[in-house]
Amino acid sequence: MATPHNAANMGDIAETILLPGDPLRAKVIAETYLEDAKQFNSVRNMFGYTGTYKGKNVSVMGTGMGIPSIGIYSHELIHFYGVKNLIRVGSCGACQEDVKVGDVIMAQGACTNSSYAHQYQLPGTMCAIADYGLLKAAQEIAEEKSVPWHVGNILSSDTFYTETAEWKLWAKMGVLGIEMESFALYCEAARAGVKALGIFTVSDSMITGEETTAEQRQNDFKQMMEIALETALRV
Ligand code: HPA
Repeated sequence: MATPHNAANMGDIAETILLPGDPLRAKVIAETYLEDAKQFNSVRNMFGYTGTYKGKNVSVMGTGMGIPSIGIYSHELIHFYGVKNLIRVGSCGACQEDVKVGDVIMAQGACTNSSYAHQYQLPGTMCAIADYGLLKAAQEIAEEKSVPWHVGNILSSDTFYTETAEWKLWAKMGVLGIEMESFALYCEAARAGVKALGIFTVSDSMITGEETTAEQRQNDFKQMMEIALETALRV
């Protein structure tokens, strides 16, 4: 049965899904890496596809930007379509000196300035973490491929443009990078007892102001995708 945001039927989506923010990225991933990819969604142009990677059923779908958007899509994927392994593939801004543009970050945990977890009425602070099995697999693959990698905390921010340099306070707590979605993804997965991981290429540095060129972005994207797809095979 379709949801308000997803036209797929139960069974159309694989248990393992890759989640880029940009739906056009999902299309490129399906066309580049998946065999026999079939589109299951175009509602709001949030394209989703299912195909096979090295013989395994894998889906890919855009999430949009920000916590509310990924919260909706991941919730529906888990609760209406039976998805069990959700791997976000995105970009982030680095906020530590030793995290360079082009490096890969695997988010062991996600901090946030969002109120997303308030819905759970926890008597304290939710520590949103990746699934250890997915994290371990991704880290091992990055190592095997000699991709410069970091594992640690990130910030899922509600704001891209900020009035103050809030990132500096998070950086003091060891946060490696900033993006806008993983906290909600990790909460949704935790609440449902399924697995999630966020993998990122560093697209810019808050410290140096450096940004990737279009060409570098393409290459970094390829590295991250190979890590994510090989991780999908190991779940
Ligand atoms: N902030 C939030 N999200 C991002 C950034 C950033 O600096 N870079 C890439 N995604």
